[in-house]
Amino acid sequence: MRIGLLNGGGDCPGLNAVTHGVVGAATKLGWEVLGFKEGFEGLLPPGNFKLLKLEKTEGILKLGGTILGTTNRGHFSSKVGAGGIRSIPSELMEDAMTTLKEEGVDALICVGGDGTLTTALQFQKEGFPIVGVPKTIDNDLGATAMTFGFDSATQVVVDALDRLHTTAESHQRIMILEVMGRHAGWIALYGGMGGGASAILIPEVPFHYEKIAEALMRREEAGFRSSLVVVAEGASPAGEGKMYEEAGTEGESRLGGIGEAVTSRLGELTGKETRCTTLGHLQRGGSPTSLDRILGTRFGVKAVKLIEEKRFGRMVSYQQYHVGSVPIEDAVRKLNLVDPQGEIVEAAKSVGICFGDA
Ligand code: F6P
Repeated sequence: MRIGLLNGGGDCPGLNAVTHGVVGAATKLGWEVLGFKEGFEGLLPPGNFKLLKLEKTEGILKLGGTILGTTNRGHFSSKVGAGGIRSIPSELMEDAMTTLKEEGVDALICVGGDGTLTTALQFQKEGFPIVGVPKTIDNDLGATAMTFGFDSATQVVVDALDRLHTTAESHQRIMILEVMGRHAGWIALYGGMGGGASAILIPEVPFHYEKIAEALMRREEAGFRSSLVVVAEGASPAGEGKMYEEAGTEGESRLGGIGEAVTSRLGELTGKETRCTTLGHLQRGGSPTSLDRILGTRFGVKAVKLIEEKRFGRMVSYQQYHVGSVPIEDAVRKLNLVDPQGEIVEAAKSVGICFGDA
């Protein structure tokens, strides 16, 4: 038995932990693992891959990034513009299938988010056995309570807020932190709650600048001279669209700029000194947290198990502390969004965090 493994989409802490889990479990069964490089691109003839032996994956568990490389652009991108989906052209599919056949690959594990799993589903529908593993720091994939990488990204946000707190206090300023989160505000919500933010702005809750300014001024009146505000890159004021740094033609356009917009508007409305920090790719870098190392390993082991049981077209899923699986179809294009009326937002509001809505 010979299985393939590839990563797709942006890099994410814990990807190497998945590889570690896959190689460990497959080796135990006497199987070989071919790691394809840079996502589906590695399937293009003549094939770009390496044989992943146990000794080759020794020590990768704790490493950030991915030893296989990845891409969120390229020939196999199923995302076009914001929200658009395309089918992969049949010539490309045939080319990829030829490589898989020539290398004697019996099944393929695809690790990625919505875009990667949409492409993976096309392979499955065209007859190649696929197993999916959910990956995204944004934690916005449906049918799984959590993806690996989210905890590591959240920890970076908490660390950044702890540091920004120093200047906020010393200079009596409002410090704004822009974090990742295109469609879902999980990183902003968890990072902001863990790092003691006074306001958290997320894509799911359109905000009003005046409401945030009022909340920050109330803090001032109560004797708190500084505040931290976390803004997800996909958040937007009520009645306005998301802010883009660059309009892309393929894949999803790059978001950016909302942190600066919030900073200048809150400065005007409160009369206080405001400063913006954009955390960017620091959130995807560095070593995974212990939670993400363990989750990634368990996901990799489960993916091999699904192949052993011939349960193809399924995605590994994490629900109620248990690693199970769901049909890939149940996960793609179904976003896991923050519930604005849910318990977590309610808890945040109960401790005085403003979301800019009411
Ligand atoms: O989907 C994960 C993500 O980190 C988004 O939050 C962000 O908008 C995007 O990737 C950035 O991608 P890139 O690395 O192409 O700038």
